[in-house]
Amino acid sequence: MSCIVVVGAQWGDEAKGKMVDFLARESQMVIRFNGGNNAGHTVVVGEEKFKLHHIPVGILYPHVRCLMTDGMVIDPPGLLDEMDGLAARGISLDNLYISGSAHIILPYHKLLDTLEEKRRAGKKIGTTGRGIGPAYADKAARAGIRMADFCNPNRFLSRLEDALAVKNSLLRHLYGEPPLEAEAIIERYEPYARRLKGHMADTAPMVWEALDSGKNIVFEGAQGSLLDIDQGTYPYLTSSHPIAGGACLGTGVGPRQINRVIGVVKAYSTRVGAGAFPTELFDDTGHYIREKGHEYGTTTGRPRRCGWLDAVALAYSARINGMDRIAVSLLDVLSGLPSLKICAAYRIGGRTVNSFPADNVLLEQAQPVYEEMEGWQEEIGNAQSLDDLPVSARLYLQRVSELAGVPLCMVSVGPRRDQTLFLEEL
Ligand code: GDP
Ligand code: IMO
Ligand code: MG
Repeated sequence: MSCIVVVGAQWGDEAKGKMVDFLARESQMVIRFNGGNNAGHTVVVGEEKFKLHHIPVGILYPHVRCLMTDGMVIDPPGLLDEMDGLAARGISLDNLYISGSAHIILPYHKLLDTLEEKRRAGKKIGTTGRGIGPAYADKAARAGIRMADFCNPNRFLSRLEDALAVKNSLLRHLYGEPPLEAEAIIERYEPYARRLKGHMADTAPMVWEALDSGKNIVFEGAQGSLLDIDQGTYPYLTSSHPIAGGACLGTGVGPRQINRVIGVVKAYSTRVGAGAFPTELFDDTGHYIREKGHEYGTTTGRPRRCGWLDAVALAYSARINGMDRIAVSLLDVLSGLPSLKICAAYRIGGRTVNSFPADNVLLEQAQPVYEEMEGWQEEIGNAQSLDDLPVSARLYLQRVSELAGVPLCMVSVGPRRDQTLFLEEL
């Protein structure tokens, strides 16, 4: 039995989808515990590409139970589109379960997300516009509508009327927008609720039962650790808990049940949206990485900001997750560069520091102190084991692992399932 949490070690898009898919083959349950359709997880199976936003990537295996648990926020039309898209490609959704405690994203959340970004003007967060922040704000304010409310017409109407009383005042007086009508929302959303109701379940006991019967469970983190609402680069982050602790909070299992935390580390750094990014590259190398790594958002199509690997941020990420393994992805993208840099410290206010500053304002000032390493020229997508990699690629991996302070368990050298090297049985 194993209970593994897979988290993004950086700012998201580390290839968590690919790594979870790899582990899902030997698992009986895959759980999404945070975020909503701000996530975009890609899995490549042969010639086919799947982009999942809400649904755990385990759905691609008929034997895997897939849970969307309490810590998630769900956009009903978005989820149904995703389900229909999968069904049209022959993927069964019989194994998809949605917690009654997950929160529902409603039209006013998406509207407020967009309006708030506009109001922030020069201080935009660069959100995905999916209503994520406002939906989590309502959850914290105890004004949210949960899946169980949503699937009960009387409760849905009553909670919606309460919510709209406040939202419409905001829309009218703060943003100068017309109010929303409860009837119109109900008319549009009740058919969604009727369709989703069959998937609603009490998910925590399902996880406990799987734990008790020795099943292999994978928790599929969304976003990245540095976007965590408490431990990330506030306020430039998402509103949920992408870190390993989020798997407990968002699911209803205790931390002692988890026996492995794998951080997925992109071989370089990317970030979408605003916020400090000390190793960001604005030159030809940044361009090379963006084009070679196809670094355009899976969810919004935005070009991702690219830069060298930031090992100060990575060591911090290892701490806040209690990582006991790292999996390095997209190593092949670095092929062809004459030399590589890793940020091993920052210069902040004339001092050299090795720790990741909790204050985003300090991080904005951080200048990277780089270690330079030799690159490799050959393409590595056909490597079958670590021994097939050029020496400089192996030295690079070794250094990343040393600076993270965490042993390496997997390396990904391409998007396909067979482009995965693993160093130990998980
Ligand atoms: P996630 O959000 O962490 O699941 O990552 P995304 O799916 O948003 O972005 C990762 C992208 O890299 C996807 O397009 C994957 O198909 C692709 N990918 C995954 N692993 C590798 C790899 O090792 N090499 C290359 N070149 N691409 C990869
Ligand atoms: P996956 O799971 C990368 C970023 C957004 C923005 C910030 C807040 O595919 O790795 P939000 O819409 O969540 O309020 O936006 O968080 N962001 C992501 N960046 N990958 C993601 O998910 C992300 N989900 C949110 O770009 O900067
Ligand atoms: Mg992604």
